[in-house]
Amino acid sequence: MFQKSTPPPSSSPAGGGGENENFFFPSPVYGGGQGGGIENKLMRTVNTHFPQHRPRRARSSEAMRRLFQETHVSKSQLIMPYFVREGRGVKEPILSMPGQFRFSSDALLREAESLQKAGVKALLLFGLTEDKDKKASKAFLKTGIVPKTVREVKKRFPELLVITDVCLCAYTSHGHCGLLNADGHIENDASLPVLAKTALSHAEAGADMVAPSDMMDGRVGAIRRMLDENGLKQTAILSYSAKYNSSFYGPFREAAHSAPVFAKKIPKDRKTYQMNPANRAEALREIELDIREGADMVMVKPALCYLDILREARDRFNFPLAAYLVSGEYAMIKAAAQKGWLDERAAVLETLTACMRAGANTVLTYHAKDIAGWLSN
Ligand code: PBG
Repeated sequence: MFQKSTPPPSSSPAGGGGENENFFFPSPVYGGGQGGGIENKLMRTVNTHFPQHRPRRARSSEAMRRLFQETHVSKSQLIMPYFVREGRGVKEPILSMPGQFRFSSDALLREAESLQKAGVKALLLFGLTEDKDKKASKAFLKTGIVPKTVREVKKRFPELLVITDVCLCAYTSHGHCGLLNADGHIENDASLPVLAKTALSHAEAGADMVAPSDMMDGRVGAIRRMLDENGLKQTAILSYSAKYNSSFYGPFREAAHSAPVFAKKIPKDRKTYQMNPANRAEALREIELDIREGADMVMVKPALCYLDILREARDRFNFPLAAYLVSGEYAMIKAAAQKGWLDERAAVLETLTACMRAGANTVLTYHAKDIAGWLSN
């Protein structure tokens, strides 16, 4: 089998003598050497590199592994999402997302304090309301749940970064992210001023960043103009640029009561605005458009099925880039961990590392606070 005496090929078409010349660009020896069957071919490939190269040397001790580590994760890269609702003293468990809650704003202040103590410096707010209508009137109310919570958090914890999700799905009676016309079609252009007003109400309350997640065309530009015209030039935009139509949002929709309502003339899913999971080039176009429209940071969502998109976005644009480990990605790990089928901490840190390795600068995850605790131990 793998005998030491197997000679290296002497008549390799790549020519040259030194074995090292073939290291980065294996000669046809690699796949197409002459004769000898698969074992011989493998042997020749191995012979070209071994024993000069022993990758295991870099893994021989904890100190060596650390020294050779290419990707590092830190608390400052984390964003923790929260759900806020009306009421006082409310901390209501979300069944589909064990360990996550719907908070009233006073309860969220206590939570924000522990988040900050754990060392996470940014949070993202999702607003919930029972008072929904076709026009999403409660989405842009200056006294709505999100502006109110933003004011309170920024007053108590001015150095904590507050980001707000900008979307209509939690505020529309039909559950879609934009307005619908009488035929049940999404009214893209009519939705833009509503989204822009929603972003404005968050920014006026003191949000550091607004994060449109609706996937309407042109919304980043509409929001940027609205903010600038109202003297909010410093409010940044984190755009959910490549947001896929994903089954992994399932647990979130239970958390936010934001699934499309099942009725006649109401689209049953979000396929006309969220992206087809099969598409890659389109994601890059979406990201490019958002950068041109004035986004300060772009996002790929979900994260794990779309690490290739993250990597391409990093290589193509080299622009601030976020990955969102979504509710379904959280729930999968939680459920398996609860059954004792995997180690939650190790699995979560692996997914986080994968996002950073793929090219993200920052990661939104419901595990953010837990991760901060693990990283300090
Ligand atoms: C709202 C919104 C969704 C998520 C973030 N913003 C749900 C959706 O598009 O249906 C998903 C987040 C998650 O699953 O964690 N449009």
